Amino acid sequence: MAGVSSLLGVLLQPLLYSGTAFAQQISLSGAAPSDCPNVPSSNGAPVVATGFSAQLVATGLSGPRGLVLDSKGALLVVEQGKGIKRLTLSDNGGSCLTVAQTTTLVQNTDLTHSIEVSQDGKTLFASTSDEVFSWAYDVDTASVSNQRTIIKNMTNSDHISRTLLLSRKQPDLLLVSRGSGENIDKLAAHEPNGISQIRAFNLSALPPGAVYDYPSQGRSLGWGLRNSVGVAEHPVTGGVYSVENSADQLSRSQTDIHQDNPGEELNFHGYLNGTTEDGQGTNYGYPTCFALWKTDGFPDLASGMRVGSQFALDPKDDGACASDYTSPRLTFQAHTAPLDIKFNANGTLAYVTFHGSWNRDEPVGYKLSVVSFGDGSRGEPAEPADSTAAAVDVLTNADLAACPGACFRPVGLAVDDDTGRVFMTSDSTGEIYVVQRLPGAGGLAAGPSSGVSARLGLLWFDGGLLPLVGWTLVVSAVLGGGVMFAVPVSG
Ligand SMILES: *[C@@H]1O[C@H](CO)[C@@H](O)[C@H](O)[C@H]1NC(C)=O
Ligand SMILES: *[C@@H]1O[C@H](CO)[C@@H](O)[C@H](O)[C@H]1NC(C)=O
Ligand SMILES: *[C@@H]1O[C@H](CO)[C@@H](O)[C@H](O)[C@H]1NC(C)=O
Ligand SMILES: *[C@@H]1O[C@H](CO)[C@@H](O)[C@H](O)[C@H]1NC(C)=O
Repeated sequence: MAGVSSLLGVLLQPLLYSGTAFAQQISLSGAAPSDCPNVPSSNGAPVVATGFSAQLVATGLSGPRGLVLDSKGALLVVEQGKGIKRLTLSDNGGSCLTVAQTTTLVQNTDLTHSIEVSQDGKTLFASTSDEVFSWAYDVDTASVSNQRTIIKNMTNSDHISRTLLLSRKQPDLLLVSRGSGENIDKLAAHEPNGISQIRAFNLSALPPGAVYDYPSQGRSLGWGLRNSVGVAEHPVTGGVYSVENSADQLSRSQTDIHQDNPGEELNFHGYLNGTTEDGQGTNYGYPTCFALWKTDGFPDLASGMRVGSQFALDPKDDGACASDYTSPRLTFQAHTAPLDIKFNANGTLAYVTFHGSWNRDEPVGYKLSVVSFGDGSRGEPAEPADSTAAAVDVLTNADLAACPGACFRPVGLAVDDDTGRVFMTSDSTGEIYVVQRLPGAGGLAAGPSSGVSARLGLLWFDGGLLPLVGWTLVVSAVLGGGVMFAVPVSG
């Protein structure tokens, strides 16, 4: 049974695989997934790792990106180029949730990606590529009023998301991440241009009617960050982390290195409490220095260079990259495209969405992963900076060869601190999924497609293997796909 348990997941019904073949379900014991009524259908069959359950919650959205929960537990989602929708949910327990009602909250074709809500639930924030807006939000009438521009002057092409994060530790501060205008954007090398940076703006210090100028105001949390779309604050220590999408098409020493270099990055930006001895506001390398992912076959690999080392396109500048720039805290597979990072309530886990590659022969990414932060008390990843196994798969596409065409592409995350549920948008399929760590689940284990093995022992922290007792196994014979799932029904 151990082999079967490593393939535990959830069955989405009816499954439509690669747009052509239908799945058949055979219930092996106990209740069928019809226990979860009105389950919407998916165009792909996600593979769910041991210790997690997952379920499709919403379909039919138009390019859903950022996601946040309001004070009544409804989902507020940005549909890129459309506006903001509010989805109330019927809660049938566990990961069994269905959409009860959908309303349009904001119609604005310029909204690109991000959404935030204040801790008291009464102010909503969203952004275009140029501006950040705030609204008064009435959760009882599900309506907004009093739109105000609070930050401006962020226009650039190419990377148009402007990620917003309201600090929970310093509720005055709104963090805004702005990416580059092109693959290698030379403007990012001059800090006053305000390109490829994360800046924090004090909303309490903004006079009525005033608007912050992004490039010249606010406090820098870091620059030389090509396109850091995910930003999160550790719930215990208040440490700020971001995930960066690094460059495409690079060569070094006349050798094309782009398949597996440079790596995507998890960067640390210190704390928002005034402490300064933590690298905050420093340069993280772009567009001059990049993080090493694959060391095998890397041209002019100097001794001492390892995963996460900063390198230059000209090897003679490697020394300056190592000494003058801040290195990532973790590095991920090149081109996996991390778009969001969200911590669970006690800061033991960081969920990271990987939207997936375009600049690589064989597709990579297209998954939700989780990074262990140990017991959460230190606010530090459990793995060392040169690890290649820090991201452990939670929800993956069954067949990467079918990506991007027939794959879900993870974007935004919202974590419900009360239930531990993690909501995730997929813009390619117009869907929202919910993922939940099963009660009693032990450490993180490799999912069927994670390819992680050697270091997983480090990630076991509070238990053993999930007991199979009380599980309903559902085998899904997917024509041409052969994917197995199981649905937990108790515990
Ligand atoms: C916008 O930012 C640029 C720097 O990128 C600056 O030169 C310009 O003055 C700013 N414009 C306004 C209207 O503040
Ligand atoms: C934000 O500004 C207000 C008003 O000036 C000030 O009292 C507060 O300390 C500031 N907060 C931070 C985190 O700097
Ligand atoms: C800020 O928070 C960090 C992490 O909790 C802590 O180590 C540091 O002492 C704090 N600094 C101040 C000035 O409170
Ligand atoms: C953190 O919270 C999870 C539930 O989300 C729980 O399983 C785990 O035991 C907690 N860990 C610690 C160290 O408190």
